[in-house]
Amino acid sequence: MPKPILKVRDLHKSFGDLHVLKGVSFDVYEKDRVAILGFSGSGKSTLLRCLTRLVEPDKGDIWIDGIHVTSPNAPLDKIRKITAYVFQRFNLWPHLRVIDNVTLALRIVHGIPKEEAEKIAEKVLRRVGLEDKMYNYPGELSGGQQQRVAIARALAINPKIIFLDEPTSALDPDLIAEVLSILDDLAKEGRTMVIVTHELDFVQDAANRVMFLYNGKIVEEGPTDEVLSKPKHPAFRRYLRRLLHRLEKPV
Ligand SMILES: Nc1ncnc2c1ncn2[C@@H]1O[C@H](COP(=O)(O)OP(=O)(O)OP(=O)(O)O)[C@@H](O)[C@H]1O
Ligand SMILES: [Mg+2]
Repeated sequence: MPKPILKVRDLHKSFGDLHVLKGVSFDVYEKDRVAILGFSGSGKSTLLRCLTRLVEPDKGDIWIDGIHVTSPNAPLDKIRKITAYVFQRFNLWPHLRVIDNVTLALRIVHGIPKEEAEKIAEKVLRRVGLEDKMYNYPGELSGGQQQRVAIARALAINPKIIFLDEPTSALDPDLIAEVLSILDDLAKEGRTMVIVTHELDFVQDAANRVMFLYNGKIVEEGPTDEVLSKPKHPAFRRYLRRLLHRLEKPV
């Protein structure tokens, strides 16, 4: 039986009067690739950031790998060691070479000596096909290549779970394909991932479960094929129609 690596119960978050998350609950099991869908402004990024308390939730419980993240004395350093984020914009350090971008967290957060950290960095950069860009600066790379560095950096720490927030939305279509193929490989390797994305092709291909966040709650959830072929909630149907309509528009 796969074990739940992430458990979320009755999560709430407001910004002033804006009640963004109104009781979100779900489980993510080992090797799950969960896609979180939702309209713009529905709280997907807020939800992802709450999961490791990059944003402080107001109420609710979260467990990651058995650690009670929302307890007041939770070991946040430990939690950050077993989780990794890939954001929409690549968040690479522009003044550091690619290899140093990857080794930084290994050395500082994980205390791994330089030489060993560089070996790991070389391995993960090869993994995403960037062995020939190791000594370049991020500004010398294409958007897709930069996003691959961000993915390599996430992989370097061998996290139990990777959170990806619209990893392809800042990219041109040909670069999107490049990043999606790497995410596809990671899915095949059995990495546990939670991905916010609007890329339906990718969802179909790489996610085994889909959740739809609407009005502060998960209103639809289930296996990808089932949820996409028989959407039930009216808002989810509207969302899918909109995405499909966008796909059909001439480029
Ligand atoms: N730090 C903040 N302070 C105030 N309001 C915020 C803050 N962060 C997010 N919000 C608001 O919370 C709501 C949810 O934002 P969030 O970024 O989570 O949405 P999203 O689903 O990720 O949207 P998108 O698809 O456009 O990325 C939005 O109305 C946003 O303006
Ligand atoms: Mg967002």
